[in-house]
Amino acid sequence: MSSDSIPGARVRRRWPRVLLGILILLVVAGVAAFKLYRPAPRALRSGGEPMQAIVYHEYGPPQVLRLEVIDRPVPKDNQVLLEVRASSVNPLDWHYMRGDPYVIRLDEGLHQPEDPQLGTDVAGVVVGVGRSVTRFKLGDEVYGVGAGAFAEYARASEKRIALKPATLTFEQAAAMPIAAITALQALRDTGKIKVGQKVLINGASGGVGTFAVQIAKSYGADVTGVCSTRNVELVRSLGADHVIDYSKEDFTRGDTRYEVILDTVGNRSLSDLRRVLTPKGIYIGIGGGSPADGGLIGPLKGMLKEFVVSPFVSQDLTTMMAEITSADLAVLNGLVEAKKLTPVIDRTYPLKDVPEAVRYLEQGHARGKVSISVAAKQAQPAMQ
Ligand SMILES: NC(=O)c1ccc[n+]([C@@H]2O[C@H](COP(=O)([O-])OP(=O)(O)OC[C@H]3O[C@@H](n4cnc5c(N)ncnc54)[C@H](OP(=O)(O)O)[C@@H]3O)[C@@H](O)[C@H]2O)c1
Repeated sequence: MSSDSIPGARVRRRWPRVLLGILILLVVAGVAAFKLYRPAPRALRSGGEPMQAIVYHEYGPPQVLRLEVIDRPVPKDNQVLLEVRASSVNPLDWHYMRGDPYVIRLDEGLHQPEDPQLGTDVAGVVVGVGRSVTRFKLGDEVYGVGAGAFAEYARASEKRIALKPATLTFEQAAAMPIAAITALQALRDTGKIKVGQKVLINGASGGVGTFAVQIAKSYGADVTGVCSTRNVELVRSLGADHVIDYSKEDFTRGDTRYEVILDTVGNRSLSDLRRVLTPKGIYIGIGGGSPADGGLIGPLKGMLKEFVVSPFVSQDLTTMMAEITSADLAVLNGLVEAKKLTPVIDRTYPLKDVPEAVRYLEQGHARGKVSISVAAKQAQPAMQ
């Protein structure tokens, strides 16, 4: 008797087709939902106190950024409200603005940014205090990270701000949080940097690099900075013991071996980098890439390679993600007070020119930090 003549067998043979049908239906429904679903945009103006802020309603180049009047934020219990005096631009901002790499959109909104505000580094004056805030009071001058810092007012958690060193301007303070804490945590926590070690900073003249050179020196390392010709003197002035001009010399072909390499550029292969690491050396790749690189995971590709190769070699090839904490902002304050750390500011833009500031940073050749001055903007009557 053939299996076709057995009723049970016929039912069993239909199952794969039924399952395939259900699967196709689910995929079609999923694609349709993805294409059609648009979350309602957050109401930016609903009768609260007005303020000017940079907002973006779609992912894209700096042209998507607009100066608009929106509601002033209201601090949550554990937050303060800051009158923003300054902010600074980080590569993080253009990654969010462009939704690039695409993996960012899983968190930030698939089609358009769910949070239309931009900007993280902030310095300002406390003008509102949540119920459970204990460490700050009205009138305190603080800096750290907050939400939507490219604005006249921004909220910040009390765990992510500190009092601003009196010797720094608001612009200098706002230049520090992300870039300086990345440099600190990469060198101190990931690199476990020690006195006398040879440390190389690739990208020594950029936002993270200018802090990294100074912080590595403050730990007593023998520091080599890599930058272009026009920045050699700047990097030397920050305390670097050796400066390599990458347009004239390839640091991966030299004779020196480094205990720690902090790489902010990500433009060299792991085999080149391993060549100039000591056998037990640590390579910390923190990012790199430009808007032209993009793709699904962008700079995460380099981090994945490190993750895959590291277990098979004697050196430690790794990465890190900075976490901005009050405790580490206090460490920065100590370095500033000891005159071991001074922010380098390349250019300062008023709030309305944030698109220009981001466009400049995207070119990948900022010297130190690109600053946003909100006080300067408020001083111009034409922009009120
Ligand atoms: N993992 C984290 O937690 C974390 C945190 C902060 C930043 N990051 C990432 O770290 C990277 C650097 O951030 P950043 O704020 O320092 O950026 P940035 O300020 O835009 O860096 C610009 C600097 O890169 C230098 N540069 C460009 N090409 C170079 C090359 N071939 N060799 C050496 N230096 C070169 C430029 O120097 P010249 O003009 O002399 O070429 C310029 O000074 C970004 O990818 C950012 O996303 C990661």
